[in-house]
Amino acid sequence: MTGGRTPRRALITGGANGFGLATAAALLARGDRVTIADIDRRQLDAARGTLPDAGLHAMEVDVTRPSSVRQAVQASAAAHGGLDCLVNCAGVIHLAPLAEIAEEDWDRTIDVDLKGAFLCSQAAAPHLTESGRGRIVNIGSDASRVGFPMIPHYCAAKHGVIGLTRALAGELAPGRVTVNCVCPVGVPTTSMGRQVLRWKVETTGAPPEEIRAATAAAIPLGRNPAETDVVAAILFFLSDQAAFLTGSALDVDGGMMSTIPVPGT
Ligand SMILES: NC(=O)c1ccc[n+]([C@@H]2O[C@H](COP(=O)([O-])OP(=O)(O)OC[C@H]3O[C@@H](n4cnc5c(N)ncnc54)[C@H](O)[C@@H]3O)[C@@H](O)[C@H]2O)c1
Repeated sequence: MTGGRTPRRALITGGANGFGLATAAALLARGDRVTIADIDRRQLDAARGTLPDAGLHAMEVDVTRPSSVRQAVQASAAAHGGLDCLVNCAGVIHLAPLAEIAEEDWDRTIDVDLKGAFLCSQAAAPHLTESGRGRIVNIGSDASRVGFPMIPHYCAAKHGVIGLTRALAGELAPGRVTVNCVCPVGVPTTSMGRQVLRWKVETTGAPPEEIRAATAAAIPLGRNPAETDVVAAILFFLSDQAAFLTGSALDVDGGMMSTIPVPGT
């Protein structure tokens, strides 16, 4: 028990970077046990150096490969004596005009961003059910809500993540496993966020500060989101307070998806 609370045992895919790494740091800081699993061995080693050793397990996984996923789930459950939480953070984005998107680009995006969440949830479900307080948190996007040019494959995958969340919420509810989705608007500080920012700089010729200012101005609350805004939503869905929430998709977007700017107001 930590402060009267039983520590949670979590597996976080994409845990070497961005939201996954920040979520791991937050869980470890409150005494939980965490596996960070990622395809990038170098980043995984670097991430491990930034986290406390106590309660931490790190391992390679490719979320697109069923055998790799099964191995990661088993190893995580063995390392921590079970599994209470799965956070599906692994993700990729590829930006290009429709005519330039190769079949491999489409397949890779759908495989990592959608099939990966399915495979990890499938492998983790028996352990989460056994836990009796199981949690799955998927990471959607503003691209789960609306379509954006240059990323039809990412939009299709992220819309699919909400469908997957809702379907699994119903199916896993009898085992007291909740399944929810966090949908952030672009966070420019993660590896993926920096990739998108670089692409915007290259395609528009505008400096990064100008692009950041323009995106902040398009958000009703007037700033770009921070990684901590996204982590707060993930931690909420993992918490006891969220025990009765399942099948939800929560926008972390400063009001962007639910408001339309009206000219002259
Ligand atoms: N940053 C943003 O602006 C933003 C906005 C909305 C949603 N998201 C979503 O949040 C999630 C996390 O993104 P992030 O911004 O932290 O990005 P990130 O690039 O910092 O982290 C993603 C991690 O996923 C890992 N990964 C990629 N392919 C993998 C695979 N096959 N198997 C295992 N790991 C793999 C990468 O190595 C990386 O460490 C993603 O699903 C992303 O689509 C990001």
